[in-house]
Amino acid sequence: MEFNNLIYQKQGEVGILSINRPKALNALNQELLSELNIAIEKITENADIKALLITGEGKSFVAGADISQMLDKSPEEARNFAVLGMDVFRKIELMEIPVIAAINGFALGGGCELALACDIRIASEKAKFGQPEVTLGITPGFGGTQRLPRTVGEAKAKELIFTGDMIDAETAQNIGLVNNVVEADALLEESLKMAKKIASYSSIPVKYSKAAINRGMQMDIDSAMELEKDLFALCFASEDQKEGMAAFVNKRKPEFKNK
Ligand code: CAA
Repeated sequence: MEFNNLIYQKQGEVGILSINRPKALNALNQELLSELNIAIEKITENADIKALLITGEGKSFVAGADISQMLDKSPEEARNFAVLGMDVFRKIELMEIPVIAAINGFALGGGCELALACDIRIASEKAKFGQPEVTLGITPGFGGTQRLPRTVGEAKAKELIFTGDMIDAETAQNIGLVNNVVEADALLEESLKMAKKIASYSSIPVKYSKAAINRGMQMDIDSAMELEKDLFALCFASEDQKEGMAAFVNKRKPEFKNK
């Protein structure tokens, strides 16, 4: 896949998508978001990829939506821009495979929102987070008012969005915004290690678990438990469940076929 603003590589069964517009600190403009949309669609179609890493080139993960491109937008154009960003982030969230954000630097505004659309967030000790939209006279527009409170709770989300303050990686971990903080040099290696571990299992329980969590979080607890029962039962229709359990019983390593 060739893009002007993205680099896509594969390491075994893990896809690595890097936002590549470092001169503008990887700010998300229309072209970049359209390319991201295409890349996510293509990766989704590729059954060989079992986990995806999203990271940024240079000192920034993503420093937000492109401010110079937004400056003269009318309300209607701004809404269309929000639709573009939200749709692609929702596509990332709805991917069956797990998506890990490897946050190398600034994750501000749309960058924090991109990280929030991923399943797991691993941050370099140099990463910085924030929703500075209020300082520009706007609200978050790529899902921040919705995913941030669902991730860190309403009070912390309101504090971050109302003040526009930037927080460091350690603070982000303390409020539950990131899973782990690692040394800058180890970010890709540590993120890949987790992605490869997940990719080493059958993709069936991983994708069912993601679906159960994502869909169940939107349901009442009884309906969500019904969903878990159904997906748990469905695992037993797979060859990999038989293989995983037979391997345990026979004290050998399982050989999963993703069937
Ligand atoms: N949009 C467009 N260009 C941006 C940008 C953005 N969000 N963030 C950085 N850049 C550009 C700068 O304009 C600058 O370009 P030039 O070299 O051509 O002048 C280049 O990237 C480097 O940036 P700085 O010189 O500012 O770098 P710095 O290290 O001094 O500061 C920073 C880094 C603190 C991240 C600062 O760039 C900054 O505050 N950026 C804006 C962050 C922001 O407000 N993000 C939210 C955007 S709104 C949004 O995202 C809405 C939404 O939810 C959809």
